[in-house]
Amino acid sequence: MSQRRPLIAGNWKMHNGVSATTALLEGLLEENLPAGVDVVVCPPFTSLPAAAMVLSASSIGLGAQNVHWETKGAFTGEISPDMLSGLGVGWTIVGHSERRSLFGETDETAAMRAEAAQKAGLEVIFCLGETLDEREAGSTFDVLKRQASVLKTLDPAHLVVAYEPVWAIGTGRTASAEQADEAHAFLRSEAASFFGSDTAGALRILYGGSMKPGNAAELLGRENVDGGLIGGASLDVGSFSAIIRAAAL
Ligand code: 13P
Repeated sequence: MSQRRPLIAGNWKMHNGVSATTALLEGLLEENLPAGVDVVVCPPFTSLPAAAMVLSASSIGLGAQNVHWETKGAFTGEISPDMLSGLGVGWTIVGHSERRSLFGETDETAAMRAEAAQKAGLEVIFCLGETLDEREAGSTFDVLKRQASVLKTLDPAHLVVAYEPVWAIGTGRTASAEQADEAHAFLRSEAASFFGSDTAGALRILYGGSMKPGNAAELLGRENVDGGLIGGASLDVGSFSAIIRAAAL
C-alpha cells in the first residue's frame, strides 16, 4: 500500500433483499473496524433505502451497482444519478464486467454513466479488466489501455478505478499479487498520461476478483493495490471485516 487511503468496497450483486441487508449491515456495525480504511457497500437498488437507514450515523459509505446517464425520461428499468443521491447514496459502481458481458455495456456507455454520476455528486468506482481469452492472447495491456482511455473525461478527484480480471471474478481463481500490481501500475501510468503524474499518484486502484481473507493481505500489500472490490466475500460479515482489517495493516 502507499500514501493512498485504502478503500474496501463490497459489491453485493443480486444478493440481499431488505431484511438480509439490514441484518448484514447491523452485523458489520458491531465489528470494531479500523479507522484508517474507507468502507463502502453496494447493495441492490431495492435495498438502498434500508441500507441508508442502518448506515445513517456510520462512516460506511453506500453505493449503487449501476446508474443511468440521463436525469429522467423514458428509460424503462433505469435509475438516474439524482434518484440515488436523493436516497443518501454517495457512490456508484460503473462498467462492471457483468454489465459489460451480460447487458451490453460498452466503454462509451460506461463513461456516460460515470460522467453523469459525477455531475450529480456521486463518487464513481469504474471497473475494467481483461477476459481469460484476452490474457492468453497476450492482449491484456491493449485491452486495459482501451478501457482506461475513457477515464480521461472524468473528474479524478471523484474516481476510483477497479481492476477486475474477468477470469478471476467468482471463479475462486485470483490474480497473483504480481499480476495485480503489474496491471495496476500500468493503469496508473495510463492515468498519468492524461491526468498528470501527481493526480495519477493519488488515484485509488482497487483489485477485484476472488479477494478473500486468505489472500487479501498479500494483494493489499502491493504498492499499487489500494484496496479491493469484493463480491462473494462481502456477503459475510466475518470475511468482509477480515478483509477490511487486512487493508489496515
Ligand atoms: P468475487 O469477489 O465474488 O470474485 O467478485 C468480484 C467482483 O466482481 C466484485 O465486483
